[in-house]
Amino acid sequence: MSLRVAIVGSGPAGIYTAEALTKQAGAGVEVDVLERLPTPYGLVRYGVAPDHTSIKSIAGYLRRVLELPNVRFLGGVEFGRDVGAADLLGCYDAVVYCTGAMVDRRMGIPGEDLPGSVAATDFVNWYCGHPDMPADRFVLDCPEVAVVGVGNVAVDVVRILAKTAEELRATDVPEEVLARLAGSRVRTVHMIGRRGPEHAKFTLKELRELGELANADVCVRREEAVADVTGLPRQVRGNVEVLRGWAARDPAGRPRRLEVRFWMRPVEILGEDRVTGLRLERTRLEGGRVVGTGEFETLPVGMVLRSVGYRSVPLPGVPFSEETMTVPNEAGRVRDREYVAGWLKRGPTGVIGTNKSDAAETVRTLLADLTGLARDPVRRGDIDALLASRGVSPITYREWLAIEAAEADLARSLGRGERVKLLGLAAMHAASGR
Ligand SMILES: Cc1cc2nc3c(=O)[nH]c(=O)nc-3n(C[C@H](O)[C@H](O)[C@H](O)COP(=O)(O)OP(=O)(O)OC[C@H]3O[C@@H](n4cnc5c(N)ncnc54)[C@H](O)[C@@H]3O)c2cc1C
Ligand SMILES: NC(=O)c1ccc[n+]([C@@H]2O[C@H](COP(=O)([O-])OP(=O)(O)OC[C@H]3O[C@@H](n4cnc5c(N)ncnc54)[C@H](OP(=O)(O)O)[C@@H]3O)[C@@H](O)[C@H]2O)c1
Repeated sequence: MSLRVAIVGSGPAGIYTAEALTKQAGAGVEVDVLERLPTPYGLVRYGVAPDHTSIKSIAGYLRRVLELPNVRFLGGVEFGRDVGAADLLGCYDAVVYCTGAMVDRRMGIPGEDLPGSVAATDFVNWYCGHPDMPADRFVLDCPEVAVVGVGNVAVDVVRILAKTAEELRATDVPEEVLARLAGSRVRTVHMIGRRGPEHAKFTLKELRELGELANADVCVRREEAVADVTGLPRQVRGNVEVLRGWAARDPAGRPRRLEVRFWMRPVEILGEDRVTGLRLERTRLEGGRVVGTGEFETLPVGMVLRSVGYRSVPLPGVPFSEETMTVPNEAGRVRDREYVAGWLKRGPTGVIGTNKSDAAETVRTLLADLTGLARDPVRRGDIDALLASRGVSPITYREWLAIEAAEADLARSLGRGERVKLLGLAAMHAASGR
């Protein structure tokens, strides 16, 4: 069967979709992966924490898909700016949207837009060296910071704030960001959960890592670590046990302190021109809902990092539900010849591997729809000609490899780890050799 498919987005969902297409459709399939950045791998490159090197190594698996003879990487091509749905449907038999969930959810409390109130999405982009985020965006000049949310992203953010720059030297954190982390004046990080330890979203392995920080004591209040875990999953019981263990031990006097709090919800971010505090209200559950108890506490923080989840953004001309913040679909089918996979399909939850089965489902739907249908032949060169006519010259996979090599050279010259990220599109374009 001869089939040409465009995939929009080169994160795990996009690349697993390409892999599933090549496996399920056989040799006759040709896949183009369009990506707005010059670099592939989505959140594996610009989300997974820099010190989680073993997770980042999944890129080694994903690259093998991009190196298949019937898969092409077209970097620097943005859907909605350079091409639209009608363009792609004119050049390919089908389109699969895999653009993830790029922006933060809001908390909806007063003070959320004050300088110093920051979306975790921005902070993560900053320490990961995302080209959308300038290196001078953050100055860590306040002694106390609050991180709202008790999911795995919050744990990442807290860990990066608690580690020393020396501990992060061997990672790919850009030099300019590392310098700012080295100059950090942050001494206390509060991580805030609006429900109990048994409701926290972080996973046990990630939680345990906080207890191994060389530079920070982890403190939990005994009364907040109490939880009835009867009948709850092993993972949750494990979390509660770890937290109880921390509640029972005395701080060792390390330079930084991590306060993990539960049953506290943010009600207002305080400050005139910038954040000076975070007002919290103690909570309890009433009929399964979180309600305030009328007991308040103010943390004297100069920065509030809102790590309360990600959300997708609508793609121009593609259906989108404002309610679920996803593209409505049936097993990946959006409408005739248009499909969706990954976080854009099911919302911002799940680990990298979750996207593999998700992509496989979408590809099964796509192949069931398209196999055996008589279609007008589409000329392969069309997308190249179309992009050229719009002055868009995609970054090729080979050019990406040149960027990767430049990052390895930079790491060697600085005596750092395997790679140090280049900052900004200009540096990446220069390194690509074009
Ligand atoms: C901070 C953070 C840390 C994480 N850490 C881990 C971890 O340690 N382990 C783990 O298993 N999971 C982790 N996850 C979850 C994992 O990253 C996701 O499950 C996965 O990345 C989702 O894949 P995706 O392809 O749907 O989205 P993404 O990875 O976001 O990929 C979307 C891609 O689409 C591109 N794109 C967006 N808009 C356009 C457009 N208009 N045109 C063209 N391209 C576009 C983006 O640039 C991006 O490359 C983490 C998530 C976050 C947010
Ligand atoms: N190492 C890893 O494997 C890794 C690392 C990072 C991310 N990920 C994955 O990526 C996905 C996204 O992670 P995430 O941490 O962004 O999301 P998440 O797991 O959904 O956690 C969001 C947290 O924010 C809280 N929250 C939401 N709205 C709030 C509000 N208005 N006020 C206060 N708290 C609020 C939630 O509490 P409630 O539960 O009360 O709503 C929850 O604690 C997850 O599936 C995660 O596992 C994995």
